[in-house]
Amino acid sequence: MADKSVNGEGPEQQEKDNESSQKTVSSNGESAAESLSKRQRKKLLKQQKWEEERDLRKQRRKERKQQRRLQRQSHQEEDGEDAYSAKKRLRREVTPSSVRLVVDCSFDNLMLFKDVSKLHKQIQRCYAENRRALHPVQFYLTSLGGQLKQSMDEKDKGWVNWKDITIKTEHYGEVIAKDDLVYLTSDSPNVLEEMDETKAYVIGGLVDHNHHKGITFERAKELGISHAQLPLSSFVKMNSRKVLAVNHVFEIILAYLEKGSWQEAFCTILPQRKGAVAVDQDGTTVQEKQDSESDSDTPEQSEEKA
Ligand SMILES: C[S@@+](CC[C@H](N)C(=O)[O-])C[C@H]1O[C@@H](n2cnc3c(N)ncnc32)[C@H](O)[C@@H]1O
Repeated sequence: MADKSVNGEGPEQQEKDNESSQKTVSSNGESAAESLSKRQRKKLLKQQKWEEERDLRKQRRKERKQQRRLQRQSHQEEDGEDAYSAKKRLRREVTPSSVRLVVDCSFDNLMLFKDVSKLHKQIQRCYAENRRALHPVQFYLTSLGGQLKQSMDEKDKGWVNWKDITIKTEHYGEVIAKDDLVYLTSDSPNVLEEMDETKAYVIGGLVDHNHHKGITFERAKELGISHAQLPLSSFVKMNSRKVLAVNHVFEIILAYLEKGSWQEAFCTILPQRKGAVAVDQDGTTVQEKQDSESDSDTPEQSEEKA
């Protein structure tokens, strides 16, 4: 009954159906199908057809499922292919630079262990950045020993498996020809304009909070090797000292090799607290330019702006 009312049939129709179904039960000679009402026959046929097609439907479902699986597989293969070729492309685009970058670890006994630990972290950072650089440098660590080696052995045993790096206990002077060396030091009067691919640039492995001011400049002079400071003043104005941490110098050089622009390299790498602001060739910052432009406005123009 409930079904019928759902079908929206009236009570008369229900009665008719009941009558004809009673007929089906009572008549002996007639076939069951003949004694059914038109509506019931239609329903029965529909049900029979539904039953007959059960296997067919099952088969179709199976086919659709398989098709979806195949589609998924082919997408995955395409994606995998894309990722693979992107990785391959990336690998091809990496062109190692022939510039050598040396971290001179000969100042070990001038540092407290906590500062050596900081230097250790800076070196780890240099290593990681060089490994993912587009133009990685030939990375050297020289004079490795003492507290730094102890820190590396204790905190990062994996360093013995580091790739694409030359680690020496010897001083850089024994490893690289003197004529190839350029000591990078903020105290040098020389300003580095371009990187020379044939040179080996040395960074002082020192975290000294400026306690040993000028020490690397003195060492470079004693050894009679070239020296230069980064061209900071020509490209950026800073609100702090021009003395940078080892990893910042290292990363600036990687960025310069990639972008070909000191200004971009400084602006990308220098930490915000250094307050580096790009300057134009005439030495003024964008802000200063805007200020001086508004200073030179006529009173009328200033009023208009206000
Ligand atoms: C924290 S600084 C050490 C400062 C130390 N008092 C000295 O005399 O070099 C670490 C190293 O980064 C390099 N460095 C830092 N700022 C530099 C700059 N403005 N130009 C060139 N090299 C710089 C130097 O090699 C320096 O030894």
